Amino acid sequence: MRSVKIENVSKQFGQVHGVKNLNLDIKAGEFFTFLGPSGCGKTTTLRMIAGFYYPTEGKVFFDDRDVTRLQPNKRNIGMVFQNYALFPHMTVDENIAFGLQVRKLSRNDIKQKVDRIRGLVHLASYGDRKINELSGGQQQRVALARALVIEPDILLLDEPLSNLDAKLREETRIEIKRIQSELGVTTIYVTHDQMEAMAMSDRIMVMDNGYIKQIGAPQEIYNRPLNRFVADFIGETNLVEATINTIDGEVIQAKTANGLVLTGQKQHSSPTLTHMIGDKVFISIRPESINLGNGDNTLTGKITFVEFTGISVNYIVDFKEFSLKVMIINSNDHLKKIGEHITLNIANDALYFLGE
Ligand SMILES: Nc1ncnc2c1ncn2[C@@H]1O[C@H](COP(=O)(O)OP(=O)(O)O)[C@@H](O)[C@H]1O
Ligand SMILES: [Mg+2]
Repeated sequence: MRSVKIENVSKQFGQVHGVKNLNLDIKAGEFFTFLGPSGCGKTTTLRMIAGFYYPTEGKVFFDDRDVTRLQPNKRNIGMVFQNYALFPHMTVDENIAFGLQVRKLSRNDIKQKVDRIRGLVHLASYGDRKINELSGGQQQRVALARALVIEPDILLLDEPLSNLDAKLREETRIEIKRIQSELGVTTIYVTHDQMEAMAMSDRIMVMDNGYIKQIGAPQEIYNRPLNRFVADFIGETNLVEATINTIDGEVIQAKTANGLVLTGQKQHSSPTLTHMIGDKVFISIRPESINLGNGDNTLTGKITFVEFTGISVNYIVDFKEFSLKVMIINSNDHLKKIGEHITLNIANDALYFLGE
């Protein structure tokens, strides 16, 4: 297990920039995730760590060793891809053993290592099965076993669950996490799925258009986003545009264009926000933090959408100037209907102020 350091790395494809000025420290043993929409540069970054691309600028280190221009097969990494890239007509064991045969280990060593890792991914009795006789989830576990059997210093996974259906995705996610923590191998995981990233990671790097938008633990990114992009991409939120109207110690009042005043707390702001009267801000309000009835920041609006999901009732409520997505935990109450008015309140500490 090794640490990974990326120093001022950019990758240019002709006129297209893949990633720009990345700086990143991944700790030994960490489960670190690259998260962002399609095309934001996740795979490009992973490929530079693997050695399939060389950076246009900057350096990559494993521990203190500069590996920027080292060939992939000299890096001792394990890789798992979205399309498992297994040999379909070979058995599970033949697939898992592949990397060990390349390394010319003895038959006995190979057998021992393959047996152990097959058990670890819960495929103990599947050694002689052909790949095309396995389910998608089992195939992905073979791919994982094949990556792990060489005892890599770093495990790289690029959207490994994307081809699986929702239920299997969740099961396999738990399996990957279990195996990773059992082995303690430094793991870099690529996904565009924010739930997956939150559930699995020690830390997440959120990317957009080749740039880092935030690096932090899941809770930090969810509760203290640095900018609108992160607030909106991680979970669901409402973003209300307003201008800072008054600041009184810890209490901030912000006014929307139509004169609606919302009261919040200064400490519930992005660390990058400077608070000045007259400055434009975006107020992030999570749908689950809005409550029924009177309280702080009481608002009455008209329902334009109702959805019952079992766990919750989701509304969209129109306040003329803006509308809010609202999530009320299901409590067996009478459902309100489209067109009805509803009174809602938002606790002062549920408002989160963003500058950009
Ligand atoms: N081999 C390549 N040639 C040209 N452009 C590429 C190549 N690989 C990636 N890109 C571009 O770099 C950007 C980042 O791509 P990528 O890293 O694959 O994104 P992600 O994995 O986040 O979906 C995109 O604009 C993509 O079109
Ligand atoms: Mg990709």
